[in-house]
Amino acid sequence: MRVTVLVVSLGLLAGSPAWAAAQEGDAQKGKTHFMICQSCHGEKAQGTPAQGAPRLAGQHPEYLRRQLFNFRAGLRGTHENDQYGQLMSNFAKGLPDEQAVRDVVAYIETLQP
Ligand code: HEC
Repeated sequence: MRVTVLVVSLGLLAGSPAWAAAQEGDAQKGKTHFMICQSCHGEKAQGTPAQGAPRLAGQHPEYLRRQLFNFRAGLRGTHENDQYGQLMSNFAKGLPDEQAVRDVVAYIETLQP
């Protein structure tokens, strides 16, 4: 009986927007984090080829999150010849925590390519 109640309440929790936002990221908070990103990636995350900054709008969110985590973990952007990667790496590391990564990606998702 107890187990049933627990399962049911977890189910309700999973369906609640607050829980989903914590998992997926909060686009409103992400917008603030994106202020600095837009100087290279553009206001609508359309990219700035002249600066080597790719378009982010329209990209799969799982991919964007993975790249940001990779930059933060030093799996990407650490080779001495990888100028663009090193540059980007600093900004990925500048995001305060993992939730900020989810938040900024949630905001990018709202932008139309
Ligand atoms: C100084 C310019 C600059 C700023 C500021 C900047 N980026 Fe980047 N970003 C780049 C460049 C250049 C690349 C391409 C790196 C490469 O070639 O490996 C890149 C790559 C990325 C990628 C990988 C895209 C892909 O397709 O693999 C993501 C995701 C990303 N940036 C997100 C962000 C976010 C989020 C912010 C703000 C927190 C940000 N960037 C701030 C220049 C910048």
